[in-house]
Amino acid sequence: MTDISASTESTPRSNPLSDFSAQPWPMVRKVGEAFGWLLVAGLIFTAITSIFGRAAFLNEMANVANPAEVANPFDIRYWEHALATWMHLGPGLLIMIIGPLQFIRPLRKNYLNVHRWSGRVFLVCGGLGAASGIFIGVFYPFAGIESQGFNESMATAYFGAYTLFCLIKAYTSIRRKEFGAHREWMIRSWALLLAIATERVMLGILMSSTNIGIDILFGTTFWMAGVTNIAASEIWINLTRTPGNGARHWKDIDEKAAKAAA
Ligand code: HEM
Repeated sequence: MTDISASTESTPRSNPLSDFSAQPWPMVRKVGEAFGWLLVAGLIFTAITSIFGRAAFLNEMANVANPAEVANPFDIRYWEHALATWMHLGPGLLIMIIGPLQFIRPLRKNYLNVHRWSGRVFLVCGGLGAASGIFIGVFYPFAGIESQGFNESMATAYFGAYTLFCLIKAYTSIRRKEFGAHREWMIRSWALLLAIATERVMLGILMSSTNIGIDILFGTTFWMAGVTNIAASEIWINLTRTPGNGARHWKDIDEKAAKAAA
């Protein structure tokens, strides 16, 4: 019979760097980072254009005598809940501007105070964006809450609640100086907030390539986009999680390993 205790004792004490879960894949990280930023840029562009598009609609309706006669059933809900819509668009725009800056390392290193304050703004805007999204999407989904709209309603409830949870975890972990955990919860929050742009891309593709109506597609693409972005964030987190409290950056560890190997 194999003696397990003996084999365990003979194992050399592990190098703390081996806790770097994806240490053998520096090239995957390099390519993943470049590809990720490219995708993020495309999603930010998509989000900002939809924000301005929806804001232009609200402005247009403000100058129309009877908006219900002019606007289609999808759009009119934004006019009927104009306050919630503005509370959604304003913070959404700020998130799209501040979000990428929070992830730029030299900005964090050289302007830590700015990072802290913009981080607080990001958290508040994320909370407002999710809360106003929940208000519109859970209670007034297009296609009706007791019909096809229930799909959108539940997708909004689940992703909205998880977004709020991730934002709270990001805040509480940095208050406890858990740098690695803060980074991971921020990546999850950012990925979830970007999912609305992924959804618009998926919705556009499916609307132009199938005959399925928006009443079905809207909720379905919300689930698809949320799951896609969450999966992408978890893969990136696992590829870049560093040992200890995570205060060390994966780029430094990769650089050190490359120098040691040279
Ligand atoms: C930075 C983040 C966000 C941005 C930039 C953003 C942007 C937008 C925009 C532009 C619209 C109007 C859509 C249109 O014109 O067709 C919208 C609608 C909506 N958003 Fe967001 N959003 C964000 C975050 C969220 C979050 C976290 C949730 C989840 C609770 C959410 C849920 C919704 C819902 C349910 C609608 C209404 C969809 C409908 O027409 O029924 N959004 N969002």
